[in-house]
Amino acid sequence: MKHEFPADFLWGHATSSYQIEGAHDLDGRQPSIWDRFCETDGKIEDKSDGRIACDHYHRWASDLDVIKNLNAQAYRFSVAWPRVVPTGTGPLNAEGLAFYDRLVDGLLERGIEPCVTLYHWDLPQILQERGGWPERFIVDAFNDYTEHVVKGLGDRVNMWITHNEPWCASVLGYENGEHAPGVQDVYQAMKAAHHLLLSHGTATEIIRGHVPDAKVGITLNLCPAYSASPSTADEKATRFFDGTFNRWFMDPLYKGSYPQDVIEERHRLGQISEPTLDYVLDGDLKTIATPTDFLGINYYSRAIIRDHSIPESENEKRTLHDPPKAELTDMGWEVYPEGLYDLMMRVHQDYAPASVYITENGAAFPDQIEPDGTIRDAHRQQYFESHLAQLHRAIASGVPLDGYFAWSLMDNFEWAFGYTKRFGVVRVDYDTQKRTIKNSGKWLRDVYSNNGF
Ligand code: FCB
Repeated sequence: MKHEFPADFLWGHATSSYQIEGAHDLDGRQPSIWDRFCETDGKIEDKSDGRIACDHYHRWASDLDVIKNLNAQAYRFSVAWPRVVPTGTGPLNAEGLAFYDRLVDGLLERGIEPCVTLYHWDLPQILQERGGWPERFIVDAFNDYTEHVVKGLGDRVNMWITHNEPWCASVLGYENGEHAPGVQDVYQAMKAAHHLLLSHGTATEIIRGHVPDAKVGITLNLCPAYSASPSTADEKATRFFDGTFNRWFMDPLYKGSYPQDVIEERHRLGQISEPTLDYVLDGDLKTIATPTDFLGINYYSRAIIRDHSIPESENEKRTLHDPPKAELTDMGWEVYPEGLYDLMMRVHQDYAPASVYITENGAAFPDQIEPDGTIRDAHRQQYFESHLAQLHRAIASGVPLDGYFAWSLMDNFEWAFGYTKRFGVVRVDYDTQKRTIKNSGKWLRDVYSNNGF
């Protein structure tokens, strides 16, 4: 075997609650910011929503059989806050938690390790009405919600992820408004990011308090940035992009500080009135930097950065990193597996987390069922293969990578793109809810069975 992975490497698939569950108003669930956002004109490409999605709320048992059939050792899913605490704060909704109870038992019965994400973007709408993530009260609310979930599942779940992609939850949700709740205000987004990070730190302690052997981490979507040219202007723009996208989250988590150069640039750009962060209170950074057991990384593509204030004609060297023949996924994202290697090395060298998991990696491509029932999604399979090869290389270079979760188990509600993008290794026919394993899923099954390829 050319690419053999370490003996105890964990292989799994990932999903999130709003993208698959459906059952939007069953057993006491109240609306999340995504239910509300989907009702807003022009926000979702196909005008769809997550009311039914993959109907996983009813089909969970057969879906777990599919995961088993795919030979996965672990399954990463998220808990829906508006199911478990529909009022946002306050009492537990036992019927809501019971769904995850069944799910966890069902996984353990099948010998699959549950990996729980506490927050994958479905904030109770009622909390957004009080200001949502930009307001500090949200940290206590998240703590209480965490406590309910951990008390209910902590006797059987060891692997915990506090937040999924705080960059998306803050920037897409509160800065450019492409995601729920659709706010467009950079300062609100900065505050949201801070409270997401702060609540990660406090929740980490809560989880540890109830689950002594817990492995706790946070998942970030990190994006390696490459300058479009060696010009000073492009290099500077690249540093700022990296600063807002990667270092803004990694520095507080691993160094206990926000990057000063980014604070100054934000001030120069008028994003903050003083070169300080007035919403950061004493002790916050220490809490955010609470040591964790692992870092979860979601990787899809890289970024090529240019300073747009400089006319293209004045910068002839700009094509340095432009990939004229690059393959793009259905999301328009460049397929760039080497970026994953570069990213792993950078994180290892600059921040040295003791353990890393790839908690999402995958690609959207259109696919179809052939008359013989197969789904020949060669592009998706090739994407997995090339990215796993880079991860194998990173392990050989000393990165402590302990597991890999493919995104996604099945086609699902892809946020602002609705059902127009298919990321699954299992195809979902949304009319019949029939599941069909794609060739990429079969290929991954072999990888997972053989611990390599
Ligand atoms: C990530 C999200 C996940 C999915 C993939 C494609 O940003 O965490 O829910 O939408 O992108």
